[in-house]
Amino acid sequence: MSHVTEAARRRTFAIISHPDAGKTTLTENLLLAGGAIRAAGEVAARGETRRTRSDWMKIERDRGISVSASVMTFEFDGYMFNLLDTPGHEDFSEDTYRTLTAADCAVMVLDAAKGIEPQTLKLFEVCRMRDIPIVTFINKMDREALEPIALLDEVQDKLQLDTSPLYWPAASGQRFAGMLDLARNQFLQFERRPGEPARIGPATEISGESDSLKANLDPYVFAEMTEGIEMARSLLPEFDPEAFRAGNMTPVVFGSALRYFGVAELLRTLHSYAPAPRPQKAVKKGTPVSISRDDPSVSGFVFKIQANMDPNHRDRVAFLRLCSGEFRRGMRLKTTSGKQLNIHNPLMFMAQDREIAETAYAGDVIGVPNHGQLRVGDSLSENGDIQFGGIPNFAPELLRRARVKDPMKAKHLRKALESLAEEGVTQLFLPSIGSDMIVGAVGQLQFEVMIERMTAEYNLEVMFEQAPYNVARWMACDDPKKLEEFLDRNKSASGTDLDGAPVYLAKNAWDVGYAQEKNPDIRFTATKERA
Ligand code: G4P
Repeated sequence: MSHVTEAARRRTFAIISHPDAGKTTLTENLLLAGGAIRAAGEVAARGETRRTRSDWMKIERDRGISVSASVMTFEFDGYMFNLLDTPGHEDFSEDTYRTLTAADCAVMVLDAAKGIEPQTLKLFEVCRMRDIPIVTFINKMDREALEPIALLDEVQDKLQLDTSPLYWPAASGQRFAGMLDLARNQFLQFERRPGEPARIGPATEISGESDSLKANLDPYVFAEMTEGIEMARSLLPEFDPEAFRAGNMTPVVFGSALRYFGVAELLRTLHSYAPAPRPQKAVKKGTPVSISRDDPSVSGFVFKIQANMDPNHRDRVAFLRLCSGEFRRGMRLKTTSGKQLNIHNPLMFMAQDREIAETAYAGDVIGVPNHGQLRVGDSLSENGDIQFGGIPNFAPELLRRARVKDPMKAKHLRKALESLAEEGVTQLFLPSIGSDMIVGAVGQLQFEVMIERMTAEYNLEVMFEQAPYNVARWMACDDPKKLEEFLDRNKSASGTDLDGAPVYLAKNAWDVGYAQEKNPDIRFTATKERA
């Protein structure tokens, strides 16, 4: 198959949801549908062994949260799916944001009894900013659910997103009987087998003609469903794939992740309607371009760095989302800053296992082992002339001064902090005056993770103390002289980030507002987007 055909059968997506909506369960069953794992429960089981194997992050286990995102590849119906896992905890929203930049589509999982929850809303906003099309999966239909029409109304209202059900459920909870495929007019029967594992395989189909359905369904359930469908048909728009791909409409699938119901239907929805790898905006030799998945030359961008996946090696893995071309093992790719990498051992992630990838195409994510040459936001291409945009750094919401118990180890501390900042875990700011190291993070949990990692990986006992600053803003000015003057005048309130970019370090937001008012030519920004 040519790289064009290969790229066209890729679907790269992420799942967004509020904790407990069923993301893990759904992921497990998606992998199962793809044959990437053999039995339900195996992801969790393997996850455990993986975690004990690379047991450097006690906190991850203790708290039962997944701190880092990863990617899982599986095949279904002749399509290759790349599922990007986003961390659920809100302290890691920056990581999530970056992961979503590498997805072409998102599946929004809702708990049928709860509807839109706070974290769903937050993640949805990110998708909207990037016009990422969203498929809605209403989960836990085997439990007592809200009225389907009320759920769809809520999505429409809270997210300002047109909803179009592709299926319609027949009751919920104890009475849940299945759902009607509205396009094919086929009823997919839900078989309840208490105490038994979910049945893997296609659901039994009954013709959607009312005679057949009446014969098979409880009359009340049948009446309720018919009424619901009539209401949906009169109130909700018909599914429009174009509106979906533009991010204005969401197709809705109902199901029960736990009971393996609706899972195959979700995957079919994805391969039928979700976009194949989308064109990516970039700058090539100073000119804005759009890189198509069909371009023959290989290109991609790093959206995540993970350190110490293998505790025996200090290596890092850069997650490279390919945007064009046919990648072959051993290829030499370059960054725009001139760094060259021979990629001999590109990793592919099948479920929780890693394999060496011989080839990969647009939409795929490969892991590139490296010794710190690659940073989040870097682009790689054959000629080193393509820089993709859109991977931002966010101004951290918490600033802390890092101290190491043993003062002899200050140098080590700096190295370790630089290394974690390069990974994108936290940010490091160096004030212009003094030798403080100021660490910025989105949430408190990140500091706890750092303390753990500092001990485990660098043998450093670190403390994070109140810093003299609380707000960091990047600075830019079209007139470099003006910026220089400002920095000269404000030495005690400025510093640099990891890349040496100037940063204003303020006590509070009011200070930033004041500085901005007094220096209208200087832009104080909360994000630094790499061009
Ligand atoms: P998350 O990753 O989004 O946080 O959710 P997760 O899959 O861990 O699911 C949260 C809980 O909801 C789990 O129960 C899970 O079994 C349950 N669940 C997920 N999908 C369904 C579904 O379709 N139907 C029903 N009835 N339950 C579902 P738990 O009791 O917290 O954990 P466990 O002990 O059962 O694993």
